[in-house]
Amino acid sequence: MRKVAVLTSGGDSPGMNACLRAVVRGAIYHDVDIYGIRYGYKGLVRGDINILNSHSVSNIVQRSGTVLKTARSKEFFTKEGRQKAFDNLQKLGVEGLIVIGGDGSFTGAKIFFEEFGIPTVGAPGTIDNDIFGTDNTIGFDTAVNTALEAIDKIRDTADSHDRVFFIEVMGRDSGYIAIQSGIGGGAELVMVPEAKTAIDDVIETLRKGWNRQKTSSIVVVAEGDEEGNALEIADKVKTAVANIKDIRVTILGHIQRVGAPTAFDRIFESILGLVAIEVLLNGKSNVMAGFINNKLTYTSFEEAITKEKPLNPDLIRMVEILSI
Ligand code: F6P
Repeated sequence: MRKVAVLTSGGDSPGMNACLRAVVRGAIYHDVDIYGIRYGYKGLVRGDINILNSHSVSNIVQRSGTVLKTARSKEFFTKEGRQKAFDNLQKLGVEGLIVIGGDGSFTGAKIFFEEFGIPTVGAPGTIDNDIFGTDNTIGFDTAVNTALEAIDKIRDTADSHDRVFFIEVMGRDSGYIAIQSGIGGGAELVMVPEAKTAIDDVIETLRKGWNRQKTSSIVVVAEGDEEGNALEIADKVKTAVANIKDIRVTILGHIQRVGAPTAFDRIFESILGLVAIEVLLNGKSNVMAGFINNKLTYTSFEEAITKEKPLNPDLIRMVEILSI
C-alpha cells in the first residue's frame, strides 16, 4: 500500500488532532503518501483531498478540534455520493482509508468498504465514549475533566446561595460523561439514560440531603436521560415540590467538545493513530482500533456500531453511597 487517505468525521473531539498527527507521521515514517480529506465524507464526495507532509500536522497535538475540519454528509449516504467518493480516491490512486469518527462515521465506512472494497481502519473519535470495542474514545477523558472543572465551579455558587443545581452534560444517548464527572464532582445524584431515575426519586434524594443539613445539591444530568434534559427535569421537580429551595440549571454544551486534550488523551490518541495506520499497512481492514484493559483491540465496524457498551451499574450505586 503506497497511498492512504485520512478523514475526521462527526462531532469533533479533543485529541482528534493528536490522532491525525500520529496517522500522518506514521505513514510518512513508512514511506507512504498520506492524503488529508477535509470536511469528512462531504469532502471525500467533493474531492477536497490534498497530500499532507510532516509539517501539515505540526503544533496540533495540543489543539482541540480537527485541522481537517469535519461535517455530516447526506450525499455520502447515497450510492451516487459513494461512487463519487470512490472515483475521487481512484483518481489519486489511494489504496487505503483511515476514518477518525464515531458510530455514524463507522456506519458509512462499513457501507463504503462493502461496496468498493477499499481497506479501511477506524479510530473511535467521539467524546461520548459510547462505542463498543474500546474502554475510551478520543476526547472522552478531556470532556470529563472539562465537565468536572465546571461542576467544581458551580458547586461554589450553589453553596453560597443554598441552591440545587441541575447540570446537563453531553453524551448523546450515553451517560459516560455524566457518571464520571458526577462521581468526580461529588454530585448528590447522576441521571443517565442507562438507569431510570423517576422524578420522585430525585425529590427523595434532595430531601434526604436537606434532612442531613445539606444546604445545596448538585444533580448531573446526561442530555439523553429518559426524564428529559436538565431544564425539563428541573421544571418537573419545581412543579412537584411547592416550596422547593432555589433551583438553577446550567447546560455545559459544546465547551465539553473543546479544550487542550489531557495528557491521557494525547498519549492514547497518538498510540491509536499510529496503530491504525500500521495495521492498515499490514493488511487489516473494516475494523476499528481500540484499547480494552490496556490491550490493543480490533473490532469490526459491524460490532462497533451495533453492540451496546453498558455502563457499570455499580458506578451509579456509588453516587448514592458517596453522597449521603
Ligand atoms: O457526539 C458528540 C456530541 O457532542 C454529543 O454528545 C452531542 O449530543 C452532539 O455531539 C451534538 O452535536 P452537534 O455538535 O451537531 O450539535
